[in-house]
Amino acid sequence: MRTVRFGLIGGGLMGREFASAAARWAHLLECDVRPEIVAVCDTNPALLPWYRASVPTLRQTTDDYRALLANPDVEAVYVALPHHLHREVYCAAIAAGKHLMGEKPFGIDRAANDAILAAARRRPDVFVRCSSEFPFYPAMQRLCGLIEAGAPGRIIEVNAGFLHSSDLDPDKPINWKRMIEFNGEYGVLGDLGMHALHVPCRAGWSFRNVRAVLSDIVKERPDGKGGRVPCRTWDNAALLCEMTDPASGEPFPLSLRLERISPGQRNTWYFEILGTRTSARWSSTNPRLLETLPYTPGGEQAWQQLQTGYEPAFKTITGPIFEFGFTDSILQMWAAFLHELAHGRPPRRFAGCVTPDEAAVSHRVFTAALASQREARTVSLEEARP
Ligand SMILES: NC(=O)c1ccc[n+]([C@@H]2O[C@H](COP(=O)([O-])OP(=O)(O)OC[C@H]3O[C@@H](n4cnc5c(N)ncnc54)[C@H](O)[C@@H]3O)[C@@H](O)[C@H]2O)c1
Repeated sequence: MRTVRFGLIGGGLMGREFASAAARWAHLLECDVRPEIVAVCDTNPALLPWYRASVPTLRQTTDDYRALLANPDVEAVYVALPHHLHREVYCAAIAAGKHLMGEKPFGIDRAANDAILAAARRRPDVFVRCSSEFPFYPAMQRLCGLIEAGAPGRIIEVNAGFLHSSDLDPDKPINWKRMIEFNGEYGVLGDLGMHALHVPCRAGWSFRNVRAVLSDIVKERPDGKGGRVPCRTWDNAALLCEMTDPASGEPFPLSLRLERISPGQRNTWYFEILGTRTSARWSSTNPRLLETLPYTPGGEQAWQQLQTGYEPAFKTITGPIFEFGFTDSILQMWAAFLHELAHGRPPRRFAGCVTPDEAAVSHRVFTAALASQREARTVSLEEARP
């Protein structure tokens, strides 16, 4: 069993998810590589006692990411920081020769993303990936298997999205994810967009152009100190993209809905592909359920419902009849990162983490979407494909 010693930079919501996944690595079967967290960096000292109590392998805690990157024991880093820090810290980590799992959106804007990609190109010996866990749900793995096998036939349309609803409450206090200086001009695009674009990018479909309609619905929020401050980030985004499927050369529409204010939707990721031979759809609201519609000309058109089980890409001790959830998808994503780091490629096309080139495509789409909103027009993407 190979051990990869990790440093964690940003120990908040997502940092703790990684620490928890690493702590239950024994859950995975047939895995010949494992993470060991030896260092944690966060500027909030209140977070560190949890790590000291929960991570017995921890040897360094610091509030300075440079001190963590200077630690020769650290081979790889997970960076889960606010978006304005991605460029500086991702570039420094890569330059220090640390393998990097960086959180989305992989840069606060396209210029930051370009700089991160240039840093990665200068160090081809460093393994770099971007976090996105939803395709690791077993039902999505099956759906992606249909795409890989060409089962849809000619693609009629694809609809994907990621929907949240807690921002419907105008009295929810503002946090960094709603502030342009920390979250960026992208707003909801940067926060939720990579999740919805992971599968379209991995499928190899080309983006030709995009028309976006962005909404700023709640324009001010409590500041948490008794006052109210402007909330200037985009809440919701509706994108209609013209795509090309390289398998057929034919165009098809991809609609993307990325919403922080989608009444009733707590954390819904969905994906639907309609094809001339097979259609399929899945939503995290009912994560077991995979719906498919196989079609032969002249035959019936009937949606089938299949209850998928705990059948992830990376085998685990859990029996196949049990339920799979968010923390399981995080564990699978980390298994994918370490598998590819150790073996050079994912076990199957859709069982891999987002590559820097795929993240770069998402930035082209988001940047074009901002221009589309600003100028009220369709913006060409000149065949952006990883
Ligand atoms: N993959 C997912 O499902 C998912 C979900 C939520 C957030 N994210 C992404 O993860 C990243 C972090 O989000 P989060 O929700 O964990 O945020 P968070 O606010 O919970 O955590 C960020 C942490 O960074 C720390 N920090 C801030 N500045 C620092 C600095 N200079 N040095 C060291 N530490 C510093 C903060 O103290 C905080 O603990 C973002 O890129 C976000 O988009 C991904």
